[in-house]
Amino acid sequence: MSSQIDHLLDETRQFPPSEEFVARSVSSPALYESAAADREAFWATQSRELLEWHKPFTQVLDWSTPPFAKWFGDGELNVAYNCLDRHVEAGNGDRVALHWEGEPGDSRSITYAELTEEVKRVANVLEGLGIGHGDRVAIYLPMIPEAVASMLAVARVGAIHSVVFGGFSADSLRSRIDDAGAKLVITADGGYRKGRVSALKPAVDQALADRGDGEQQTVEHVLVVKRGENEVEWEEGRDLWWHEVVPAASPEHTAEAFPAENPLFILYTSGTTGKPKGILHTSGGYLTQAAYSHKYVFDLHPETDVYWCTADIGWITGHSYVAYGPLANGATQVIYEGTPDAPHPGRWWEIIEKYKVSIFYTAPTAIRSFMKIGRSVPAKFDLSSLRLLGSVGEPINPEAWIWYRDVIGAGKTPIVDTWWQTETGAIMVSALPGVTATKPGSAQVPLPGISIDVVDESGSEVGNGNGGLLVVTEPWPSMLRGIWGDPERFTETYWEKFEKQGYYFAGDGARLDQDGDLWLLGRVDDVMNVSGHRLSTAEIESSLVAHEATAEAAVVGAADETTGQAVVAFVIIKESYLSAHDPAGLAQQLRLWVGEQIGAIARPRDVYIVGELPKTRSGKIMRRLLRDVAEGREVGDTTTLADTAVMSIISAQVK
Ligand code: PRX
Repeated sequence: MSSQIDHLLDETRQFPPSEEFVARSVSSPALYESAAADREAFWATQSRELLEWHKPFTQVLDWSTPPFAKWFGDGELNVAYNCLDRHVEAGNGDRVALHWEGEPGDSRSITYAELTEEVKRVANVLEGLGIGHGDRVAIYLPMIPEAVASMLAVARVGAIHSVVFGGFSADSLRSRIDDAGAKLVITADGGYRKGRVSALKPAVDQALADRGDGEQQTVEHVLVVKRGENEVEWEEGRDLWWHEVVPAASPEHTAEAFPAENPLFILYTSGTTGKPKGILHTSGGYLTQAAYSHKYVFDLHPETDVYWCTADIGWITGHSYVAYGPLANGATQVIYEGTPDAPHPGRWWEIIEKYKVSIFYTAPTAIRSFMKIGRSVPAKFDLSSLRLLGSVGEPINPEAWIWYRDVIGAGKTPIVDTWWQTETGAIMVSALPGVTATKPGSAQVPLPGISIDVVDESGSEVGNGNGGLLVVTEPWPSMLRGIWGDPERFTETYWEKFEKQGYYFAGDGARLDQDGDLWLLGRVDDVMNVSGHRLSTAEIESSLVAHEATAEAAVVGAADETTGQAVVAFVIIKESYLSAHDPAGLAQQLRLWVGEQIGAIARPRDVYIVGELPKTRSGKIMRRLLRDVAEGREVGDTTTLADTAVMSIISAQVK
């Protein structure tokens, strides 16, 4: 972290957009002016221009009971209709919605007309299974077109989806299914990852099995896409093959209008306690800001652009910038099933060449791993179709930014560094590529219509040149509406940090430079950011202590060249185990254990077996000190420790 801040401080380069770019730009400075003149009127105009409302709204924002907001409250719309049917009705049915590329090299291009028909069939299947308004559906799928179709079909019938990233384990899936009370799970036999089939259905079976503890089973059916051709177990009556029921369903389905505040999805994200938070998003406001930000931040020309966001649908980026934003805007996009290096390290660049991708949106962690491999790999491909690059998920360091622009963007494409969160639903801070002179490493300015500030602990503005905590000072259309089933946690976590009512605390540190541009400095709570994904220290700790060998565990995020932060665990092993097992073997076992329990993304890079953990007199683990050790630094102030000698013992053990 500290070295990154040093770099940021040095950075003075600026890249204004070229004249050519400005001439065709979708955005203009007028956008900032109209938003500043009347924020609510601005959002109302955006919503009316970008979406089709079955019943037009007359109210824009109801903020009478903060933090519970209502946007466009008396309006009604159907989210799937906005992403599909209306494009077909407008004569764009033949436009490709999805160019899908499978990892083994198979591919499909699906038009808006075809996707609309598929979603209508799936909607009929869902209704046939008794899924309707307000029901929850868990989606656990690889990056295949059926994943997008499933989300839209759930939205179409007014139900709520909870997409669970396919890399999560059976246990993680189970807790998400249970928390949401899902009635249906949509999954696949498997999907291709790194050249082989990674199975998904067994995890669903496991998540739904062994309910000996009196827990209520809410899932009635499992709808299974055949993708991997791998063997699956089958529960008659419960399990259904997609390829049997979907093609047999009617392609006619009328989209019913639902209120603007109808819940659209729940997406689980890490918090500072072990239990993931089910972030709830609703329909009209969410879709407005997803479409708006997608159009202006990515300078979208839907007739000519080919857009590619590499995020998995299991993350918020996949919701807002694969499913909803691009489809609401009638964009043509690429989706890719596999990993960037399968079967060769140039796979992404090959896909860009193949589909002539013009807008590319990815994460700093990916850019840094390509930097490591070197520029000779992308140099083998024709990337000249690219005209805009985006970054999301974590701070992008200036070196990676410049590499991205030079090597991938031929030294000319603007780069938009977009700051936002699962909770914000859509991009909040970013350059507008036809307006802003970009600065490597800075996310820069709030989007028109968004109000952001950097404040100190007491909630006072820090002013330019200073650092503090990032807050959103006014409600925004795609804001989270709550935490599923836990309104108190919602209020406490996000809205009570400052006395000022209606200040949303994002959990990120930030500083404003002399020009008032924002530089994100990482999380200030015990949440790590690994490859652009938020993981909670508490969740991984509880997984570690669930292993029979572990007595106690503390987890920290340590700076990592590629993944931004890496998971580092300090573990105390029970006496009985320590004598009977070798420590290196135990450490390896624990790494694999966490991978199985939570998913590979949470697997610690290092597990250190230690004799003690640094604690305050009140028993709170001082992760800050462990982070010093994990990052190979001199250990900081230990005076508040109950036993000040502990840190020297740990440092010696780690060495
Ligand atoms: O710390 C910030 C970081 O990612 C967090 C949000 O994580 P998540 O909800 O998983 O959503 C990730 C994709 C939107 C933020 O609190 N973050 C996200 N984008 C950036 C970022 N940090 C710096 N710069 C960014 N562009």
